[in-house]
Amino acid sequence: MSGDTLKSDLKKVLEEATQSIKDIDNPSDLEKLRVKFLGKKSLLNTFMKSLSDLDNEEKAQAGKKLNDTKKKINDLLGEKKISLSKSKDKEDDGFDFSMPGKASSVGSLHPITKTMNCAIQIFESLKFECVEGPEIEDEFHNFTALNIPETHPARAMHDTFYLENNNLLRTHTSSVQVRVMDQENPPIRIIAPGKVYRKDSDITHTPMFHQIEGLYIDKEVSFSNLKSIINIFLKSFFEEDDLKIRFRPSYFPFTEPSAEVDIEYIDNKGNKNWLEILGCGMVHPNVLDMANIDSTIYSGYAFGLGVERLAMLKLGITDLRLFYENDLRFLKQFQRI
Ligand code: PHE
Repeated sequence: MSGDTLKSDLKKVLEEATQSIKDIDNPSDLEKLRVKFLGKKSLLNTFMKSLSDLDNEEKAQAGKKLNDTKKKINDLLGEKKISLSKSKDKEDDGFDFSMPGKASSVGSLHPITKTMNCAIQIFESLKFECVEGPEIEDEFHNFTALNIPETHPARAMHDTFYLENNNLLRTHTSSVQVRVMDQENPPIRIIAPGKVYRKDSDITHTPMFHQIEGLYIDKEVSFSNLKSIINIFLKSFFEEDDLKIRFRPSYFPFTEPSAEVDIEYIDNKGNKNWLEILGCGMVHPNVLDMANIDSTIYSGYAFGLGVERLAMLKLGITDLRLFYENDLRFLKQFQRI
């Protein structure tokens, strides 16, 4: 075989290989081509063996050409391999790069937390200091010190969850009043927000709910001070100047006189209705005396707001239990309040 024949044969092999590689559309056929063009029985290998027939100078030139051709075919095979695997990836995950991205959803505060925060902010602007007390209480702080002795029927009203060692889950935030009066001297002006517990469950009651307690003790605190702070708070909270507010005489062992406060709202049938949202009154002299605050010098008012009730009215929700079912479709509606 002469050097010239080899040259033209190599050219043909390269052309054939280029065309065949181009036409291939799967990796296993590509592998067959690799064996055909570069394998032991390939033409190129036969040429390689026949190099020994050539004289030295021709051998060097032909060898170089052979190697160049081999390298070109090898490169073409490599490129094809990469392009086949890329198009396979595309088919497999069906990823469409032109689709708009999916934003990851961002959590938000629970509507009850937001309601609490809003109420706290208003009271802080009215110079009430925000304090906290324990949810696991003893009978003394939850009842006795609030003028509810052991045999008092009011204890039964509370549907208490009792724990071991005379402990209980506090039935109201009024227990925090006692703790604050034990530690501070008047003037006292605090609110105490938090969870409270009662064995109760229907559309307006859940076994755990939230209250905000308020307590103001100073010289010459009167019922009209109480009325005015409640009015200011409610009008500001509901952002409604002519909100209808009703003080209804009531009874709590730890306040005298006592009242409950209702707010007028339109129910889902379009009827006007009243919903009770807080209990309040003038701190009973017995409660002041038990806390070593001289009831002949000081007087005070206290109130306990139902946070879920506030949220129901503000957000137009008729079943309080919805707040605690944690259905994201419900909760997400209030992300922006
Ligand atoms: N603790 C009372 C309740 O839970 C509410 C209240 C608080 C009433 C303070 C008067 C004064 O029902």
